[in-house]
Amino acid sequence: MTVAAVITAAGSGTRLGAHSPDGTAPKVPVPKALVPLEGRALVAWAASRIADVAERIVVTAPPLAVDAVRSALVEAGVDALVVPGGDTRQASVAAGLRALMLDPDDIVLIHDAARAFQPTEVMAATIDAVHAGADGAIPVLPVVDTLIGAPGPDGVIGDPVDREGLRAVQTPQTFRARVALDAHRVAEAHGTPPATDDATLARALGHRIVAVDGHEWGFKVTRPSDLPLARHIAQSLSGGRA
Ligand code: CTP
Ligand code: MG
Repeated sequence: MTVAAVITAAGSGTRLGAHSPDGTAPKVPVPKALVPLEGRALVAWAASRIADVAERIVVTAPPLAVDAVRSALVEAGVDALVVPGGDTRQASVAAGLRALMLDPDDIVLIHDAARAFQPTEVMAATIDAVHAGADGAIPVLPVVDTLIGAPGPDGVIGDPVDREGLRAVQTPQTFRARVALDAHRVAEAHGTPPATDDATLARALGHRIVAVDGHEWGFKVTRPSDLPLARHIAQSLSGGRA
């Protein structure tokens, strides 16, 4: 039994746009995974943190950026196998799971490179929950905003939604390997619209997925306005260098 990890980093970062962390537009848009923060690519931040809890790591990269992602990881001193991802996150996860050649009893973390700063304590809590008998475990956070139904064509807002009964989902999503493999095999066979997370696929098959406390630092770097916080965290992790 080993603990292994898939880091999904094959997205293009459309919402982040063609921005460098300093706000200037580079000549060639950089895939999100390669956006540098404190001299280290986002994907390398994610991989170096998960290396504290996982013995084997596979990173899925944009097919045209496999070599660049590999170089970024080598530069950061992270040992990981880099493989091309797919057209959707789900397809990228499936490619990563295949490359890991898992034993059914292994534990596998599925983590977004975009959530590069999730503390290792949260990752360890998901692993502990699987060791304790859950089929899978995911970090969640309470929802802070007031929620309502989307407005109709007339602009009139919908019903309020009780946020106390809701949670926002983060990664890593951690499973007994046989559960993750089963979930992705069934999803691929059914050809249903791709899921945005893996716990949803596993839960749909009746697997018992539990929640652990997530962390604010597990936020997903998505838009340019997320970069200042990401840079701030990267600075504090590098010892407060400005
Ligand atoms: N991802 C992936 N393969 C894809 C699409 C997404 O591996 N075909 C990964 C991204 O690299 C990211 C994670 O899934 O780490 C979550 O996706 P998201 O935050 O949406 O990243 P992007 O798809 O890159 O961003 P955008 O949707 O703005 O283009
Ligand atoms: Mg996306």
